[in-house]
Amino acid sequence: MRMVFIGPPGAGKGTQAALVVKTYGLVHLSTGDMLRAARDAKTEVGQLADQYMSAGQLVPDAIILAIVQERLAADDCRRGYLLDGFPRTLAQAEALDRILADAKTPLDVVLELRVPDEELFRRLSGRGRSDDQPEVIRQRLVAYRQQTEPLLDYYQRRSLLKTIDGLGTVEEIFQRIQQVLNPLQSKSVEDR
Ligand code: AP5
Ligand code: MG
Repeated sequence: MRMVFIGPPGAGKGTQAALVVKTYGLVHLSTGDMLRAARDAKTEVGQLADQYMSAGQLVPDAIILAIVQERLAADDCRRGYLLDGFPRTLAQAEALDRILADAKTPLDVVLELRVPDEELFRRLSGRGRSDDQPEVIRQRLVAYRQQTEPLLDYYQRRSLLKTIDGLGTVEEIFQRIQQVLNPLQSKSVEDR
């Protein structure tokens, strides 16, 4: 299975991704985690990316696409993967489509985690990552609304989008996700 998680900062993408990859045997590909690892390793790309991340802005598409393209080519991705926080712009979505069309490995589903703003602030204020100060959270939300939300329509048109109510306990939300994924999983097994 090849899938994407879309949702605002604090929606629970990372939390749910951990459960999904364990249950369905997928590789977890989080561009945020990759960028933080590059930043902590003080690579050139990591230091450049940090300037954007600490301001709550999106890292330029060219940097992200180079990282993702290389990662998707690795052997382990053949068993299926969950893209967490990518794509985040129309240009990224279009580039991903080209990469996947060339490889003849289309996406199976795009899951949107929907959570009201007040709850996002509540969750992120309690966490304390370096980009979790109120002003940076606000900017991350602006970036989401302006640059990422248009992807919902993009994937809706391709009949790939499923929206999940992201309010509730971690376990309740995971059950909603399983209700969407289980039928798809049996289908992808039959197709083999
Ligand atoms: P990224 O790391 O992707 O962060 P984000 O999208 O802002 O979201 P978070 O990781 O903060 O939230 P999440 O939805 O994963 O929620 P989580 O499970 O952690 O990106 C960071 C930065 O990197 C971006 O701002 C950008 O600069 C750059 N970047 C990354 N990808 C990029 C791309 N493709 N293009 C350009 N730039 C890119 O949960 C949040 C908190 O809530 C946790 O404390 C958790 O324990 C708690 N929680 C989770 N579920 C629940 C629940 N059900 N109830 C109560 N609390 C909960
Ligand atoms: Mg995350």
